[in-house]
Amino acid sequence: MGIHHPTPDVHLKHGQRSPQRAQEKSFWISPHHSASNAPSAVRFFMPELQNDTLIRALLRQPTPYTPVWLMRQAGRYLPEYNETRRRAGSFLTLCKSPALATEVTLQPLERFRLDAAILFSDILTIPDAMGLGLYFAEGEGPRFERPLRDEAAVGKLAAPDPAGELRYVIDAASEIRRALAGRVPLIGFAGSPYTLACYMVEGGASDDWRIIKTMLYQRPELLHRILQVNARAVAALLNAQIEAGAQAVMIFDTWGGSLSAPAYREFSLAYIAEVLAHLKRERDSVRVPSIVFTKGGGQWLEEIAAVGCDCVGLDWSAELGDARRRIGERVALQGNLDPMVLLSTPDVVRREAARILESYGRGSGHVFNLGHGILQHTPPENVAALTAAVHELSPKFHHSD
Ligand code: CP3
Repeated sequence: MGIHHPTPDVHLKHGQRSPQRAQEKSFWISPHHSASNAPSAVRFFMPELQNDTLIRALLRQPTPYTPVWLMRQAGRYLPEYNETRRRAGSFLTLCKSPALATEVTLQPLERFRLDAAILFSDILTIPDAMGLGLYFAEGEGPRFERPLRDEAAVGKLAAPDPAGELRYVIDAASEIRRALAGRVPLIGFAGSPYTLACYMVEGGASDDWRIIKTMLYQRPELLHRILQVNARAVAALLNAQIEAGAQAVMIFDTWGGSLSAPAYREFSLAYIAEVLAHLKRERDSVRVPSIVFTKGGGQWLEEIAAVGCDCVGLDWSAELGDARRRIGERVALQGNLDPMVLLSTPDVVRREAARILESYGRGSGHVFNLGHGILQHTPPENVAALTAAVHELSPKFHHSD
C-alpha cells in the first residue's frame, strides 16, 4: 500500500501509459482514513512518467530517439518569460515565488518538443541563504553585497537548512513536479562548491578570478573551509530537491575549467565527488541519475567520469565522438551544440544538430543539449528548429527493438 506505483518510472516504455492513468490527477487518500480525516492522510499522488527518455538515456538504456533539453531553456529569449519576470518585478522575486517559477519552467515545454523540465532557480540561492546578499545589477550579472574577504567571514560561514531560507526552492520543485503531471522528468540542480566559491569570494563575475585564485595558492586552507561548507550545502539542497520530486540532478561547474589540472582536482572535482557521495541516488526505488558539467573540462574527461556521476556534460569545445571513445563505456554524455549556432538560421541549426548526432553515432547514452546556456538574443524559431531536428533525425541512431 503506497502512494507510488510499484513499477519504477524507468521501466516504463516511451509513450506507454499506466492503467491507473485516469486517477492520476486526483489526490491520493489513504484507505485507512476517510477524506474528512486528518490532513496528513491526504497526499499528492505522483503520476508516472509518460516520457522517461531522458532518464533512460542518462542510464545508458535503449531509447527510441535522442532526448533533448536545453540549459537555460526558460529565460530571456522567450517573450512570455520576460512578461512573467516583469510581473514579478525582478529575477530574484521570480525565483522566490514558487507559483511564478512553476509558470516559467513550463513555458518552453508549451512551445518546443523538450524531453525534460529544469527547475527554475539559480545556483546562487545557496550563498544568498548564507547571508551574502545576492543582487542583480542591471546589465552586470549577479553580485554579492557581502563577499567573503576575510578569515572572520569564512569562519562564520554555515550551510543553510534547505527547509529554512531555501524553502522557496523546494516549494518550487514540488509545485513544478505536480504541474508537470508526469509529462517529462524534472531536473533539479545546484552549482559546484568551487563555482559557488568563485562568486562568494569575488563578489560577482570576473574575467580572471584573481581574488579566489590568489586565495587558492596563498591560503588554501581557507578555500578548503569554504568548499567543505559549500559541499554540505549543495548536497543538502540537491537531496531536498530529490525529496520534493526532482527525477535527475545536475551540478553546474561553470568555472572549474579556469583552474590548472592539479587545482581542478583538489579544489573542484574533489568537492563534486563529496557532494555525489552524499547524494540520495534513489527515491522510492527509482534511480535519480546525476549529471556533472564542468565547462572547459574536456581535458579531464576520464577523471570526471570516475567521480561518481551517471552522465558528463560537455561544452561545445569537446568532440562528442572523441569523448564517447574516451568515457562512453562508463557514463552517458550530454551536449554539446555551440549556443551561438542558435543565432543563425533554422537550416544551419538543423545541419549542426545532425553533425552532433553523427559525432555521437549509434546507440543510447546521449542527451542532446547545448554546450552552455541559451543566449538572450536567440530567436525562439531556431530553438523550435533544433528540437524538431533532434526528434526527426535521431531515431535512425537507435535500435528499434
Ligand atoms: O536552465 C534553466 O532554465 C534553469 C534555470 C537556471 C538559471 N540559472 C536561471 C537564470 C540555471 C540552471 C542557472 C544556473 C546558473 N546561474 C549558473 C550555472 C550555469 C551557467 O550558466 O554557467 C550560473 C553561473 C548562474 C549565475 C547567474 N545567474 C548568472 C551568471 C546570471 C546572469 C546571466 C545573464 O544572462 O545575465 C544569472 C541570472 C539568471 N539565472 C537568469 C536566468 C534565467 C537571467 C535573469 C534575468 O531574467 O535577468
